[in-house]
Amino acid sequence: MQHKERVFSGVQPTGNLHLGNYLGAITKFVALQESHECLYCVVDLHAVTVWQDPKELSHNIREVTAAFIASGIDPKAHIIFNQSQVAGHAELSWILNCVARMGWLNRMTQFKEKAGKHKENASVGLFTYPVLMAADILLYHATHVPVGEDQKQHLELARDIAQKFNVDFKEAIIASSNKEDGLFFPQPEPLIQGPATRVMSFRDGSKKMSKSDPSDLSRITMTDDADTIAKKIRKAKTDPEALPSEEEGLKDRPEAANLVGIFAALNNQSKTDVLKEYGGAQFSTFKPALAELAVAKISPIGNEMRRLMDAPDELDSILRDGANRANKIAEPILQKTKEIVGFIQ
Ligand code: TYM
Repeated sequence: MQHKERVFSGVQPTGNLHLGNYLGAITKFVALQESHECLYCVVDLHAVTVWQDPKELSHNIREVTAAFIASGIDPKAHIIFNQSQVAGHAELSWILNCVARMGWLNRMTQFKEKAGKHKENASVGLFTYPVLMAADILLYHATHVPVGEDQKQHLELARDIAQKFNVDFKEAIIASSNKEDGLFFPQPEPLIQGPATRVMSFRDGSKKMSKSDPSDLSRITMTDDADTIAKKIRKAKTDPEALPSEEEGLKDRPEAANLVGIFAALNNQSKTDVLKEYGGAQFSTFKPALAELAVAKISPIGNEMRRLMDAPDELDSILRDGANRANKIAEPILQKTKEIVGFIQ
């Protein structure tokens, strides 16, 4: 089947895959398979922008692969691969490093958060991380990128980089492709939708759920067993009020809003629908219902991930096959890019 629209997205193999990754990204990846040609990438080159233990990194690459498959991504109909096996990501990233401006990268909030007070000690890779992300997307001329809210600024940067390349090389683009519009890289469209685009920590409703939070109780991971999932929801921080019956009533109640959003996303509903049913209920009623739902949805995925992880060779061969197919799409686009820039091949 030929699709005009192509989806690309990535997940870092940095351990502790959590409910935010699942609801904010992976469930969207699964749904888009129906309508689009999809590439889902385990972004190992991004992971090493901060130190990774080599053994753990290999394990985590397989774990993200297993999470994709266990969640329902079909590696035959679509493409699952790890970034470092397709050299074009690093090659295009270099060219785009020469298009992006220092000033643009200096504004990236994720770099500021991750580098913290020790900016001078951060790796150079961490600084240019968003340029590699732009290369990931543009290497395939992807049109749609499903991500959580926290990636919005990076997606805007990818659009700016695509546009600057098109403007800087307009004449060469027209000369090399006879394309009158001079547009070589399409502007990728972010897909940030639904009730759980920013899942918050269970310990602090003002912080997003993250892989690196030192508290294990702050997140549900995709491999937590049923008892652990239920316990973490029981212990999740809340306020003493009953749930409101309208979404408006969740304003200034970040913990309540978070749990309602999670329920809605797990159950494929809107927050308004959830509140129609649970408005007026205490958390002593709502939390067990949420725990039951979360266990029903997440623990079978965790079980399937464990089963897949028992056959690492099969996962590795899925990644190799995916990389070969990804490379076939990337190669002509990279060649064209080099020709536009003026490199001799
Ligand atoms: P990563 O690995 O941090 O996260 C993977 C995906 O999960 C989403 N996410 C969340 N969604 C909702 N609530 C949360 N608390 C939450 N935490 C994480 C992220 O938004 C992301 O969609 N830079 C990317 C990986 C990447 C990429 C790309 C994505 C590399 N190249 C190209 C799209 C296109 C990242 O750090 O993801």
